[in-house]
Amino acid sequence: MTENRVVEDRLGRGLDDLRISVIDRCNFRCTFCMPADQTYTFLPRREILTFEELTRIAIIFVELGVRKIRLTGGEPLLRRELERLVAMLKAIPGLEDLALTTNGFLLKDQARTLADAGLDRVTVSVESLDQEVFGKINGLGMPIAKVLEGIDAAVDAGLGPVKINTVVMRGVNDHEIVSIARYFKERRCIVRFIEFMDVGNLNEWQAENVLDARTIMGRIGAELPMEPLRRERPSDVALRYRYLDDGVEVGAIASITEPFCGDCTRARVSSEGRLYTCLFANQGTDMKDLLRGGVTDDDLRKRIAAVWRSRADRYSELRNDRLASGQLFSEPKVEMFRIGG
Ligand code: GTP
Ligand code: 5AD
Ligand code: SF4
Ligand code: SF4
Repeated sequence: MTENRVVEDRLGRGLDDLRISVIDRCNFRCTFCMPADQTYTFLPRREILTFEELTRIAIIFVELGVRKIRLTGGEPLLRRELERLVAMLKAIPGLEDLALTTNGFLLKDQARTLADAGLDRVTVSVESLDQEVFGKINGLGMPIAKVLEGIDAAVDAGLGPVKINTVVMRGVNDHEIVSIARYFKERRCIVRFIEFMDVGNLNEWQAENVLDARTIMGRIGAELPMEPLRRERPSDVALRYRYLDDGVEVGAIASITEPFCGDCTRARVSSEGRLYTCLFANQGTDMKDLLRGGVTDDDLRKRIAAVWRSRADRYSELRNDRLASGQLFSEPKVEMFRIGG
């Protein structure tokens, strides 16, 4: 075990990042995540972890090595008084980075408050700059203009560098890759183009709809010259590049074609308090009953450490074998909107 590593899983991976889903609801119905033609049952309020419960868990994760926490959803800005949770988490000694992933629709009104509460950074999902395409992808015709105003507000509030997540789906939005890159380059935001993934059970994923990260970056590089950058930390998910003229960063997340399970140090907690050790897991470990049943901090820490030590997940690395044998959809997986990406 390396120095200062508190826990290690069965494949020798530490526990560095925690992603907390604060709510399972969303005001969008993205085709690749929560298709609008499905009906959803959301958790009743009492089943969602309180800010006090989430903070208690977060403190234990930081004791176990976590340095970076990302708040996700559903759509995290739908959780009332989120800034209160931000302030509680920001106060945890040892936590170095507190970020949030949002669809940006409510960001204009909340960016300043969240920054004041101590949020360090935001990542906003933008799949298209064309209203017709964007409206179709988000399933409800929600306006891109409002998301872009939210991004500007986040930049102004100092929640940066602001990152943009763009899931690329062949034949849906891949014709916009270069214009998206150009638009955010001008605003000095870091776009990460994400290969469409087979997360959840609802999005009718097919390998043919994936555009690989190397092709994506090649198309951009042909118009906007760039050079590759090294990974900042081994657990970074993105292949990173920098434009030659202005130094703005851009990247791609090649979870399908170049899986990064070997360096995956992320734990995820769903809004109902289940601990998942992989984005593609089909079952988590319940922590809510423990929390509400009066577990001590010490026992909770032991439980979480035990889950991590028994972890052997590497779904994305195994995907190709599974695709070949037709087993990809054989077991149900947790939905993306419950686990927050
Ligand atoms: P930064 O510190 O800002 O780089 O955060 P991050 O790397 O955690 O980025 P973010 O959470 O925005 O991740 C971007 C997207 O990459 C996610 O929404 C997922 O689609 C994908 N992703 C992130 N982590 C994983 C992972 O562990 N496995 C897989 N397969 N995909 C992931
Ligand atoms: N494939 C890749 N990324 C996805 N996201 C949601 N569903 C998928 C999918 N099927 C990303 C969104 C968002 C983050 C939370 O997860 O772009 O930025
Ligand atoms: Fe879209 Fe994110 Fe909402 Fe899923 S959680 S429907 S990706 S906005
Ligand atoms: Fe980590 Fe699972 Fe993603 Fe692999 S597939 S990088 S183990 S979350």
